[in-house]
Amino acid sequence: MKAVILAGGTGTRLLPLTRLLNKHLLPVGKHPMICYGINSLKEAGITEIMLITSRVSAGMFTSFLGSGAEYGVSLTYRIQEEAGGIAQALELAQPYIGEDAKFIVLLGDNLFEEPLAPHIEAFMRQEDGAMVLLKQVPDPERYGIPVFDEAGRIIHIDEKPAQPLSDSCVTGIYMFDSSVFGFIATQTPSKRGELEITDVNNVYARLGKLAYRHLSGWWTDAGTFQSLHEAALKFSGNGNDSP
Ligand code: G1P
Repeated sequence: MKAVILAGGTGTRLLPLTRLLNKHLLPVGKHPMICYGINSLKEAGITEIMLITSRVSAGMFTSFLGSGAEYGVSLTYRIQEEAGGIAQALELAQPYIGEDAKFIVLLGDNLFEEPLAPHIEAFMRQEDGAMVLLKQVPDPERYGIPVFDEAGRIIHIDEKPAQPLSDSCVTGIYMFDSSVFGFIATQTPSKRGELEITDVNNVYARLGKLAYRHLSGWWTDAGTFQSLHEAALKFSGNGNDSP
């Protein structure tokens, strides 16, 4: 199975640091943030990875990561010319993923403590559709928040709701079948001018094809100064040289 890591974006919540450096190259303990996602995928047996980033940052990623051989993976790069949202970046991966393939999308600022393999294996056993991983958070208004029906199925995801209906958020790892590309093609930009991944997930939810599992370990989206600091504390204390 292949994976796509999205590592573009403007990183506005981490300004002024991100004026100098792409968010996903900022240090988290001993390593640039991007290394943790690559390592989580590699540990789950996924070694074919497409990294999508901006034109201005691509050179830094290629000079740091190269072919990926040093990290035990094979990297392919694509450029997102203008920041137009997660779903728009993902569309660029269509030729790489091909038809009739299940794959993983990881937001490069999402850091996971637990192994991803059991979740990915569960998705592989799923006939079709998509799967998201949920995590309880103290600040659900920052995230995509699922709405459940009485049977416990996700019927909708509210993106950054002012009044969240749950304290479990949708984390930035998405498992899709290749019908996702057809769904992206039908989307229109949101109020902030972006193709939203939540709108795409909501197509699966409407079809009753959005499965979910809960993460049990520590997780963060290191996109703010506080969460970046927490991530650095977490990973600099693990005594490991590897991410
Ligand atoms: C994105 C998604 C959101 C998800 C979050 C996880 O938000 O839109 O649904 O909960 O990633 O990291 P962003 O960080 O782009 O604001």
